[in-house]
Amino acid sequence: MACFFRRSVARQLAKVCEVSEDALIPLISAVPVSKKQVSADLRVSVSCLLQGGAAPDGDLHTKTQALANQIRRDSVVEDVVAGRGVIHFRLNKLILAQKLLGQLQSDPDGFGVKSELLQHLQGGRTLVEFSSPNIAKKFHAGHLRSTIIGNFIANLKKALGKEVIRVNYLGDWGMQFGLLGAGFERFGSQEKLKTQPLEHLFEVYVQVNREAECDESVHSAAAGFYRRLVQREDQAMALWTQFREITVLEYKRIYQRLGVDFDHYSGESLHDGQTQSVLEELTAKRLLKTSEKGTGVVDLSGTGDMSSYATLVRSDGTSLYLTRDVAAALDRKQRFGFDEMIYVTDKSQIAHFQQLFHILAAMGHQWAERCRHVAFGLVQGMSTRRGEVVFLEDVLEEARSRMINNMTQSRTSKVLEDPEQTAERIGISALIIQDFRGPLMSDYKFDWDKVLQAQGDTGVFLQYTHARLCSLLRTHASDTYSCCDVSPLTDSRSVSVLQHLLRYDEVLLQSANDLQPRHLVNFLMTLSHLVASAHRELPVKGSPAATAQARLCLFSSVRSVLASGMRILGITPVDKM
Ligand code: ARG
Repeated sequence: MACFFRRSVARQLAKVCEVSEDALIPLISAVPVSKKQVSADLRVSVSCLLQGGAAPDGDLHTKTQALANQIRRDSVVEDVVAGRGVIHFRLNKLILAQKLLGQLQSDPDGFGVKSELLQHLQGGRTLVEFSSPNIAKKFHAGHLRSTIIGNFIANLKKALGKEVIRVNYLGDWGMQFGLLGAGFERFGSQEKLKTQPLEHLFEVYVQVNREAECDESVHSAAAGFYRRLVQREDQAMALWTQFREITVLEYKRIYQRLGVDFDHYSGESLHDGQTQSVLEELTAKRLLKTSEKGTGVVDLSGTGDMSSYATLVRSDGTSLYLTRDVAAALDRKQRFGFDEMIYVTDKSQIAHFQQLFHILAAMGHQWAERCRHVAFGLVQGMSTRRGEVVFLEDVLEEARSRMINNMTQSRTSKVLEDPEQTAERIGISALIIQDFRGPLMSDYKFDWDKVLQAQGDTGVFLQYTHARLCSLLRTHASDTYSCCDVSPLTDSRSVSVLQHLLRYDEVLLQSANDLQPRHLVNFLMTLSHLVASAHRELPVKGSPAATAQARLCLFSSVRSVLASGMRILGITPVDKM
């Protein structure tokens, strides 16, 4: 029943205008519950229907009226009303409840995601590269954002039926590894590396950088170590491999707490060796030129005047971050045969990815058009009790301990089997929602108190709504509420919830198009508010059996939509809190 109601409207509409039923489907949208002036459920904008562009206002009005009058009503489409340039359709509420709840009971996981509206997005392989921290350096708020945004994009693509490859591209190569290696040889400890790997590597890196400032010999030691790495000298490589392996193991453990995983831990080191053949290809294609400074550059001006260019080789012949990215993209295309590739980083790298895509296109790779950079803004003031955030785990600890504290105060934690885990899940949801509420490109100021509030549109509120529905369903577990008589659900509260559910596929489509999670977040918040008032006004206990059953059916359906939406966002719904 992927698009039963849009289909029903499209069928009637197709009879009176020159647009096919299939082409009409995406033009028909659900009327947002909050904006409801008429009791309509679906609408279509008339200017979209009229071929040849928008008609003058007066004309449009007459046309809207005329069209609305011609459309036949039937058992599903009960009424058709002309508005300002739009036609509103009122659906039979009994059929609305029957169809939506019926589908939600029989195939809860398919609801929304299997809609006809989203069919064109199915199939194919998407590579999402995200998180991508740098070994021995800080895991800053930007890496956290990349992690949760990339995870959301991967989840969404997967839910919509794509094959998804999740790649973490570690900063695991470059001159800084000369410094790190030289530093470790001086004051590193194998003991500490085993017990506190990330802390210790960071510590060594900070210290060696400090010493390098006033001690020239550190520089030459670093250069020496890096040379040994580039030449793949055994001892140096063994140390570097140890740093990398230990870091990946640690990250895997921490990502697991966040509910994130990767199919591949790639990194700059894996592609450094491929840069030479990239440069040869660029030379053969006459794209690589030598600048006056002796660097290797690619002209990106489009006019050939070098007014804009990218550097791919330093004057000493070594490659750069960008060179390794070109190599990595080519290698991924060959190994994974992706249809689209998405990179998630903060907005400071917008120019970098524009250059990357430009170079790939100049090399003749048409798939460069299907590479996309999802950029996001900066987060200010994310700190924990230990100070500025350096390690991902600190953020998780802070979220958990603050949440535990809030829960103890409201004394809800006593009923929980594992309050620590629940607190962590809720804390993480709070972080995610805070981050996903606005456009990804905007910067925001981080505030723990605001993030963890139970009221307002927060992750805590979302979890609370879900947990309350679970509790209600647990209390009445003995009643069967699998498909029942839905006629008691024609009151305005229930209808609002159903009308809102009608929008789910549109919202998923919106998020799939612009890769912005806020559409889904807003949808789930409104759903939570609507179901909260339905819960208040529509008691189950004490109601006649048929009414109680129908209401439970509604509540269980909302719970499952809430849970699937939360999971796409990267949130694990809790059953109790
Ligand atoms: N490691 C980089 C950083 O921390 C991000 C890597 C982004 N991905 C890429 N393919 N360049 O800034």
